[in-house]
Amino acid sequence: MFFKNKKKSFVVYTAGAAVLKEVAAPVVAVDDEIRQLASEMLDAMRVFNGIGLAAPQYGKSLRLVVFDVPMENSTGTPGEEYLLPQMPFAVINPEIIARSGKTEERDEGCLSVPDIYAPVVRPASVVFRAQMLDGEFIELECGGLLGRCIQHELDHLDGFLFTDRLSTAAENAIRGDLNRLKSIGQSCNYRRISGK
Ligand code: NI
Repeated sequence: MFFKNKKKSFVVYTAGAAVLKEVAAPVVAVDDEIRQLASEMLDAMRVFNGIGLAAPQYGKSLRLVVFDVPMENSTGTPGEEYLLPQMPFAVINPEIIARSGKTEERDEGCLSVPDIYAPVVRPASVVFRAQMLDGEFIELECGGLLGRCIQHELDHLDGFLFTDRLSTAAENAIRGDLNRLKSIGQSCNYRRISGK
């Protein structure tokens, strides 16, 4: 007799999927359903080796994001000092309420755009406001890899991928690979499935 008491495989949606283009709905309450979703997303992020995962990538159009940014990457902003030791964690209804004037260019990748990397210019740090799953509200300046990851994940909640944020040159460089990914995606409903 086989008892399936734990999810053994996870689905992440890839570029071209309609759910990735939607503006996600706010989470109205942290109930068992949201806790279950967050826990599955944390597992999915681990299985796919990500440092962040937004609910739309998991097929749910909700403002819920999980993070697992490595601690060794702190640049010393208050948000990194406070949040990196708490990794991994989930937040609901995250917002960016301020952006630094200073920008930086950094290569990005995405679990929804597998094996494709390109440089993206974004603010070097942001003020991040969110509610942790245990109810705590945070509002912190986050730079470094965490600040970058926050900006990338929050884009997912508004229907954007990093490939929508590229310079013309960077876009030209990955266009062939991205078109190939989308055409492969079409044949499998834009789903990546991973065994656990
Ligand atoms: Ni992504």
